[in-house]
Amino acid sequence: MAKPTKDSANHGGEPATPAVTPFIRRRTGLLAVILIIGALAFAALQAHRQAGQTSGDKITAMPAIGGPFSLVDQNGNAATEATFKGKLMLVYFGYTYCPDVCPTTLTEMGNAVEALGPQGDKVMPVFITVDPVRDTPEHLKEYLSFFHPRFVALTGTPEQVAAAAKAYRVYYAKAKTGITSASDALDYLVDHTSIVYLMGPEGGLKAHFPHGTSADAMAKKIREFL
Ligand code: NI
Repeated sequence: MAKPTKDSANHGGEPATPAVTPFIRRRTGLLAVILIIGALAFAALQAHRQAGQTSGDKITAMPAIGGPFSLVDQNGNAATEATFKGKLMLVYFGYTYCPDVCPTTLTEMGNAVEALGPQGDKVMPVFITVDPVRDTPEHLKEYLSFFHPRFVALTGTPEQVAAAAKAYRVYYAKAKTGITSASDALDYLVDHTSIVYLMGPEGGLKAHFPHGTSADAMAKKIREFL
């Protein structure tokens, strides 16, 4: 009688050869499972790292909104993203000749900052024009004084404004007006994205508010980050 192999001992004297094949198959299957789990874990780790890289220190599901900009404020001082570091920036892109949407939004922003009381000092309401040709620093200074004393209004060259808008994924374009005479060349509307962004102390997006969000709703959300 042949000395039983480990397999035949385990399987009650069955011939060795048929028992080996299923064992190899099982092992191959197990190896495949291990490889698949490993690949998935690696992919998850990569995605995790990428999310961390695009949104600053914290891993978050927020899209990559915001970034470097170089503009000038209503007092003629240079302003970049570093100017607002350490503060919450409540930022909105628009233009002062906007007939309704922009004034409404700026009113809500100003009221939201006011509703926060003393804590509102940590929030900088910021207006960035998408119409730098008409919105000079002097014009911005006069216009924004109607909304909140702490409003910062930013403008720049058309290229600087375009770069800032791109960083915040803001769309804007001069609307077709049918104006043909040169005297009316400065009488036009601008179509633009109307979203208020709340940026964190390190510049990452914390929240966003669609057009029509009330000052109270904005203030409630901002409080979560104070
Ligand atoms: Ni507007």
